[in-house]
Amino acid sequence: MKDWKKATVYQIYPRSFQDSNGDGVGDIQGIISRLDYLKDLGAEVLWLNPVYKSPGRDNGYDIADYYEINPEFGTMDDFEQLLDGTRNRGMKIIMDLVVNHTSDQHEWFKMSRDSKDNPYHDYYIWKDPVDGHEPNNWKSKFGGSAWEYDEKLNQYYLHLYDRTQPDLNWRNPKMKASIMEMMKWWADKGIAGFRLDVINNISKPLEMPDDTLETSMDDGRKFYTNGPHVHEYIHEMYEEVFGKHSMLTVGELSSTPIDEAIKFTNPDREELTMAFTFHHVKVDYPNGAKWVKSGYKLVDLKKVISDWQIGMQNGGGWNALFWGNHDQPRAISRFLDDNKYREESAKLLALVEFGLQGTPYVYQGEEIAMKNAYFTDISQYNDPESINAYHELVEKGSSVQEAIEILQQKSRENSRLPMQWDSQKNYGFTTGSPWLKAINKDTQTVESEIAKKDGVLSFYKKLIEFRRNEPILIDGNYQLLDENNPDIFYFKRELNGHHISVIANFSDKDIVYKIDDLGTVKFSNYKETILENGELKLRPYEAVLFQD
Ligand code: NOJ
Repeated sequence: MKDWKKATVYQIYPRSFQDSNGDGVGDIQGIISRLDYLKDLGAEVLWLNPVYKSPGRDNGYDIADYYEINPEFGTMDDFEQLLDGTRNRGMKIIMDLVVNHTSDQHEWFKMSRDSKDNPYHDYYIWKDPVDGHEPNNWKSKFGGSAWEYDEKLNQYYLHLYDRTQPDLNWRNPKMKASIMEMMKWWADKGIAGFRLDVINNISKPLEMPDDTLETSMDDGRKFYTNGPHVHEYIHEMYEEVFGKHSMLTVGELSSTPIDEAIKFTNPDREELTMAFTFHHVKVDYPNGAKWVKSGYKLVDLKKVISDWQIGMQNGGGWNALFWGNHDQPRAISRFLDDNKYREESAKLLALVEFGLQGTPYVYQGEEIAMKNAYFTDISQYNDPESINAYHELVEKGSSVQEAIEILQQKSRENSRLPMQWDSQKNYGFTTGSPWLKAINKDTQTVESEIAKKDGVLSFYKKLIEFRRNEPILIDGNYQLLDENNPDIFYFKRELNGHHISVIANFSDKDIVYKIDDLGTVKFSNYKETILENGELKLRPYEAVLFQD
């Protein structure tokens, strides 16, 4: 795909986007019915979370057949119709692809656990018990051990995620060839690229030593994140598939440092197009711990973002820019104010994101300022990660109330509530009973946003269009100003002597801020900008973009 640097990616979580047949689950026909909306917004690339056949233990990240569409979402014909629909509108689709693991319902795994002699046994990572125990103390990212015992084989298999998501063995050439073949098959179908799930974890070291378990980061990840052969494997994917089809490839690279992300995305190395990293959304994980109630410091957020902006630019890498996705709580609830200043908060985050260098991602609902779910009972959750975390918290002594409050803040289920289209029943998402139910009534919908002249939706629309045609935003250098200011994020982009400056007040305070002449105001989340004698009078959560 050409021009991906200028494009905006819109992420669709198919289960929660639009149901077309009343079964309460979003589907492909539902997406098709909303293509005009997405086109109008300006989204050029659509990223679909997994739609393959899957038992749905991890909402599709447990693939049972790479070549089939999950019947809950529709058929391959529906998918092809979707491809045509996007093509006709000048849009592209990237598929979410999981090649670190499959479902335990995948035929390969069924054969793998059949016997040690089965040729598929080695498609996965099996180890003998050590002193009658797990081969090491690595933890699953969804809680508990990363090893599951299989009685019949008297062996353990590795699963970095749920126990129904066994890890594939990338050292096995046949397994690797099967994956390459499948990727080619999708490329031939006409998709524009892949979002590669946890791709930095696919190469495990031969030695699998215990970790220290001192902090929640010492859970084994240092041994398998960016493992020994990962770049080699990805370069092979490039040579065999990505390069031949000029694909846009997004690597999900959690816990990857900047120098590694550069290796993954510098075009000279022929690996991936861009890095989707999470350091900036871990600013509210004290010592790496996710499941605690915690705020964040703007100074920390600015530092992470700035280090990545400068580091990736210097190293010739490319960032994906985002505040939220299906694994994160809603950004306005997390970083700003989803109540009194909800609209201002949503626009502030959009302005900062689009002001940075990289390819911006809009996660469904962000463009209408959707907020956290605020579930009050564990029975309202469906996500295994959140449910496991809840039980671990309670087992370790948290009260039910405390555990629920932590989930209200940190659970990824917060962003999986069905899309709010209009004021009809279930916000127009389904005529049936939605798979995940909102408990609070909300007035914020696509319909209500369309009715506003200056709403969040039209703000996104204008920003997407502005950025596409503004070289300073695509190529300009990045500079952070006033780095120690605890309330204000002020950065500049520069190209050939022209500048774009973004100033954003992340606090609920009125702040008088001295500035030089920064040119004209191009975007603001307040109706008027109050600027007198070099003093910018910022109101709560006010954000302004200047251009000279
Ligand atoms: C990352 C995905 O985004 C997440 O939703 C999933 O649970 C894990 N990878 C496991 O595939």
